[in-house]
Amino acid sequence: IEAALGQGTLTGRRVLVTSGPTLEPIDPVRYIANRSSGAQGAAIGRALAEQGAEVVFVTGPATVPPPAGVTVVRVETARQMRDAVQAALPVDAAVFAAAVADWHVEEEARSKIKKTAGTLPALRFAENPDILAEVAQMGEGRPNLVVGFAAETDDVVAHATAKRARKGCDWILANDVSPGTGIMGGTENAVTLITGDGSETWERAGKDAVAQRLAQRIAEALQ
Ligand code: CTP
Ligand code: CA
Repeated sequence: IEAALGQGTLTGRRVLVTSGPTLEPIDPVRYIANRSSGAQGAAIGRALAEQGAEVVFVTGPATVPPPAGVTVVRVETARQMRDAVQAALPVDAAVFAAAVADWHVEEEARSKIKKTAGTLPALRFAENPDILAEVAQMGEGRPNLVVGFAAETDDVVAHATAKRARKGCDWILANDVSPGTGIMGGTENAVTLITGDGSETWERAGKDAVAQRLAQRIAEALQ
């Protein structure tokens, strides 16, 4: 009945979602990036919109299309994603599902680097802004709820718990993305939600089901 009336549990709430990879150019034809289909971020944007939220969806070049019913902001680099996120504030809640490249190439070449016999290019990197940490640690105007992800391959919960504290976010969704799990590039996810009160492991489920569960929890937290 609520859906029929257009009244979800997040009606009137404004929520930011980051999704997909960022691409960091080396020269006009080459880049470095993280692996990301954008499937989990798209599912989260969809689930939040279905609950009635006004969703700003900031996305790098993902494999899957963005969901319907959200405001899509397309970016390429982490620095562009940071600017788009800052421009989207203020929001009630923010979910950082993007696989942001940790570094960009310090001096992007303006013209294509040519192969030259006997020499190899040496790339110098500079660190990208930590978009999640910036938002989690802002004073005035901080979203009431800041949610990050931690894709790990070893000691998943320990790394994610430390990451939550380091970044200052409220919740972290930890997942094991080791090659054998089939989670990277797959349709399912298995996550542990880490909050200030402890952690809970959700049973492995479709990325849509994980997103719906998260949207429900966000709605409860914003009550
Ligand atoms: N994140 C971000 N901006 C960055 C890097 C990460 O917003 N420059 C966000 C991601 O979207 C994710 C969370 O921070 O929600 C954790 O990302 P992750 O790469 O796991 O953390 P890092 O601090 O970069 O640590 P690591 O050395 O494990 O890559
Ligand atoms: Ca990283």
